Amino acid sequence: GAPVEVDIGKMELGQLLRVAWRGKPVWILKRTPEVLATLKTLDNELRDPLSEESIQPEYSKNLYRSLKPEIFVAIGICTHLGCSPTFRPEIAPVDLGDKWKGGFFCPCHGSWFDLAGRVYRGVPAPTNLEIPPYRYVTENQLIIG
Ligand code: FES
Repeated sequence: GAPVEVDIGKMELGQLLRVAWRGKPVWILKRTPEVLATLKTLDNELRDPLSEESIQPEYSKNLYRSLKPEIFVAIGICTHLGCSPTFRPEIAPVDLGDKWKGGFFCPCHGSWFDLAGRVYRGVPAPTNLEIPPYRYVTENQLIIG
């Protein structure tokens, strides 16, 4: 499949863009400073907080799982059996109390991911969401693939 070019210049804070790459959904999320701060606090809730068993390019194997902290890019396919999780930046579909800080919810068998695509403990998905290869050609032009 051909690489996909995405202009992120007009993205607003909190916005999620969806594009297709190699027949797969790819998400681009512009995260707020509050979200970035929250990601640092979730380790104990997550199965693989450092993404050691998860699939991503080397350059996105970091706390934010991204090249630029504020821009998160991921393949929008659940690592359990391949459904597409829903974007739940604030509200959980069921009450998770204080545990829920916003993220992605897979309705097929109830897997939870944070806003870096990291899977919570105790849900069916075995690993964090996959990160595709991508790069910036200019400040606001992203190439996926
Ligand atoms: Fe997502 Fe099973 S496919 S939880």
